[in-house]
Amino acid sequence: MDQILILDFGSQYTQLIARRLRSLRVYCEILPFSTPAADIRARAPKGIILSGGPSSVYDQSAPKPDAAIYKMGVPVLGVCYGMQLLAHEHGGKVSKAAKREYGLSKLTVLKGSSIFKGISGSFSVWMSHGDEVKKVPAGFRVTARAGSADISAMENPGAGLYAVQFHPEVHHTEHGTKMLENFARSVCGYKERWSPASFLAGSIAEIKRQAGGKSVICGLSGGVDSSVAAVLAHRAIGKKLRCIFVDTGLLRAGDRERMTEVFRDKFGYSLKIADASALFLGRLKGVTSPERKRKIIGHTFIEVFDREAKKISDAAYLLQGTLYPDVIESVSVKGPSAVIKSHHNVGGLPAKMKMGLIEPLRYFFKDEVRELGRSLKIPEPVLMQHPFPGPGLAIRVLGEVTPERLKILREADRLMREEIQAAGWYSKIWQAFCVLLPVRSVGVMGDERSYEYTIALRCVSSVDGMTADWSKLPHDLMHKISSRIVSEVRGVNRVVYDITSKPPATIEWE
Ligand code: XMP
Repeated sequence: MDQILILDFGSQYTQLIARRLRSLRVYCEILPFSTPAADIRARAPKGIILSGGPSSVYDQSAPKPDAAIYKMGVPVLGVCYGMQLLAHEHGGKVSKAAKREYGLSKLTVLKGSSIFKGISGSFSVWMSHGDEVKKVPAGFRVTARAGSADISAMENPGAGLYAVQFHPEVHHTEHGTKMLENFARSVCGYKERWSPASFLAGSIAEIKRQAGGKSVICGLSGGVDSSVAAVLAHRAIGKKLRCIFVDTGLLRAGDRERMTEVFRDKFGYSLKIADASALFLGRLKGVTSPERKRKIIGHTFIEVFDREAKKISDAAYLLQGTLYPDVIESVSVKGPSAVIKSHHNVGGLPAKMKMGLIEPLRYFFKDEVRELGRSLKIPEPVLMQHPFPGPGLAIRVLGEVTPERLKILREADRLMREEIQAAGWYSKIWQAFCVLLPVRSVGVMGDERSYEYTIALRCVSSVDGMTADWSKLPHDLMHKISSRIVSEVRGVNRVVYDITSKPPATIEWE
C-alpha cells in the first residue's frame, strides 16, 4: 500500500497533518524524526513530510533527520521547523525573527509552484515560529511571501524539496488541505484512494493469525472503540471471541440493556455480563474524594474482569481498542489523547493479566474507527454515542455515591438525553449529561416547601475533549428539560445550566 511518512519534530500539530492526509484518502504514518533512512526506504514511501517543532535549528540538541532521506529520490515537504531545517541543511540562511510570529498572516503566492496548484492571490495562513528563513539555499526559489519580505514558501523541484513556513494542516490556513493534497497527489504522485475499510480484510486475517485458534477475551464497555474492535474480532474468530461486560452499578439508564440487545441478541456474541454493582457500591461507601473514587473503581474493575477472564480456560489474548494517537512513538510534548488517557484509563489490565494483546485499531484515528464501524454495519447509536467516562456516574454524583443519589441522577440524565435527542441536538454536542450536586436547596412544590437536590446540566462542544465550550442550547429546550426533571424526578427541585468552558473548568465536575 502506498504511503506518505511524516517525521515528527515535536509539533503539537503533527497528528493534524496525518489526519488531513488521511481525510484526503492518502495513507500516512508518523515516525520519530530520528528514524534511520534505511527503515524509511524499506517502507518505500511516496513522500516524506518534516513536521514543525519547538526547536531552533541552531540549538545544540536540534532534532535532525538522517540526511540520507534527501537523497532517496522521494519528495520532501518541510513544514515550519521542517522548512528551516531544509534551508539550514542545504546552505540557506535561517535567523531569529525580530519577534515570534504566532497567528494569522496574509500569504501571497507567486506563480508556478506545484504546491500551490489551483491556488492564487493572497489569503490567510497560520504561523507559529520564532526563526525564519532569510536566504533560500542555492537551487531553491521563493514560492510565497507574507508581506513583502518574508520568505514563506520555497522549493527546489529538481531535488524534490518543498517547504512552507506556515501550517497547512491547521484549520485556519485557507487552502491548507489543498496544499497537502497537491503535495501528495501532484508532487508525490500518490494515486490510490485509501480508506479505513481497505484495512478490513487484512485486519481480520491478522486477528485470526494472532489468535491461532485460542480464545480471545474482550472487555466490552459498549463504547465506540471496544465495540468496533469486538465486531472486527468476531468476524475473524467468531465464537472464540469471549466478551465480558462489567456492570459497575455506575452505568446510565439503558446502558446494560443496550449491550445485551446489540451484542447478544442482534449479533449473537458470547457475552458474559458480570454484575458487580454491589461490590463497587460497597467499596465506594463513605468515599467523597474524586481521585479516591477513580482508584477504587479502577482496581475493582480489574479484579472483577480478572476473575471472569480466569473462567475462560483457553484464553490466550486480550482484545483492546487502542487507537493510533496512543501508539505513535512521538517526540511531541504529550498530545491531547496521551494526557487524557493517563488519568482516565481504567486499564492496567494487560500488565496484570500477562496475556498477549490484540489491538486491531492501533493504526486508526477516532473518526476512522467510526467509518470502519459503519462499514461493519454497527448501528449508528453505538457509533455516534457521546464519550462516557470509565468511572461512570460515580464522578457525576458529587460527594458520596449512594444508591439513592445514583437513582436520582440516572433518572434525570435519562430525561435530559431523551429531550436532547428529540430536539435533534444530540449529534451537535460532544457530551451532554447531568451532575447531581451534594447540596439541597429550598423550593416550593404545590403549597409545600421542599428541600431537595440540585441537578446541573452539562452540555459541551469539543473536538477532542481537551478544550470545550458550553453548548448554546435553545432556551425552550432547556426549559423543557428543566421542567421535566423537576416534575418527574423525585428528590430534585432545582436545575441549573453550567456555562463554563474548558479551560478553566473541566468537562466532568469531578
Ligand atoms: P475532563 O473532565 O478532564 O474530561 O475535562 C475530558 C474527557 O475525558 C472524560 N473523562 C474520563 N474518561 N475516565 C475516563 O475514561 C475518567 O476518569 C475520566 N474523567 C474524564 C470526560 O468524560 C471527557 O470526555
